[in-house]
Amino acid sequence: MLLSKSRSTESPEIQIGNRILKTRYFLAPLAGYTQYAFRVALRELGGLGLCTTDLVLASQMMAGSRKSKALLMTSVEDEPLTVQIFSGITSELVRGARWLENRGYEAVDINMGCPMAKINGNGGGARIMCAPEAACQMVADVVDAVSIPVTVKMRLGWDRDSITAPLLASEFEKAGVAAITIHGRTRNQGFGGSVDREGIKQTVEAVHHIPVIGNGDICTVEDAFQMRNETGCEAVSIGRGAMLDPWIFRKISQAVRGEEPVSEPTDEEQIQFLVRHFTLMIEQYDDYGCKLIRKFAAWYGARLGIPEDLEDRLRQFESIDEFHDIVAQIRLRHGERKSSIATALVKTPNGPVERW
Ligand SMILES: Cc1cc2nc3c(=O)[nH]c(=O)nc-3n(C[C@H](O)[C@H](O)[C@H](O)COP(=O)(O)O)c2cc1C
Repeated sequence: MLLSKSRSTESPEIQIGNRILKTRYFLAPLAGYTQYAFRVALRELGGLGLCTTDLVLASQMMAGSRKSKALLMTSVEDEPLTVQIFSGITSELVRGARWLENRGYEAVDINMGCPMAKINGNGGGARIMCAPEAACQMVADVVDAVSIPVTVKMRLGWDRDSITAPLLASEFEKAGVAAITIHGRTRNQGFGGSVDREGIKQTVEAVHHIPVIGNGDICTVEDAFQMRNETGCEAVSIGRGAMLDPWIFRKISQAVRGEEPVSEPTDEEQIQFLVRHFTLMIEQYDDYGCKLIRKFAAWYGARLGIPEDLEDRLRQFESIDEFHDIVAQIRLRHGERKSSIATALVKTPNGPVERW
């Protein structure tokens, strides 16, 4: 699958507000996974145009909570970065956007897609989409409050009977947002069913000049190009697909340049990725990083084909030295277990969506 002819001659870069991004392929935020260490390790593999932080509660961010500080952690190696904030209260979003601008953050994204009750309950996340007029005022107020680019990430709507994304996208463009990311599901779909590319296309067609970023279920180079060809979106963002294959952005770049077949990472590159991810965790959290990387043990186990006893050790180790010992063992025994890539390793909420 190739990019359509008209798109294959386009510039690989894209402008969002005052920023020129080197590629049109972005990392979608996955709260709990796509934090500083993972982002930087991923950027170093190549091809990644933009990252966004996990959603940060605006009020907690301004209060300086420890969790928010960790989510806002960044460095020159983590550029370009957008900070995603959420709240159901306009004044909090406005103050939050100013707070970020004053501290040198380059762009702010408003979360209008989160399906979880704790977010929707205070009127934030996808719930905002249910009241289009209030949503437009909210976005206009945030845009007017800052000079950095403001973007919005949303779903198609609350449910099939209220598909508000095209209308909102058009109004948000008038209000001055720099781009819109659209996850092609409704809130009621949660993470189930399939992405409605037609709904994304309608959103693309509803705006005049700002880029729309298509999102949802992109797991391969082909999926990324299909999303662009079928919807006309200017860029795509990839969440779980980047967990399945961190090399996806590099592969897309190779395919955009016409280098086929795209190269798979060597065994050593895969092990280096684990080591780099861990090193960055330690940089941020000191020894506590040992605990935090354990969450990724099952994923690395499957992704790198780490023998099960070593995966178990990765799930329990206590010290930096122990980590390096495990890695030495992984190098010796790599290939004993077949690598398998399972989406299930990125947990999504389950059960009826009304109870999320
Ligand atoms: C575990 C998890 C955490 C997520 N956290 C966020 C978040 O913090 N902010 C956000 O806008 N979307 C969040 N999302 C939604 C993703 O960014 C994305 O829209 C969705 O997963 C569909 O894209 P994908 O199929 O490429 O993952 C999350 C999704 C998952 C599965």
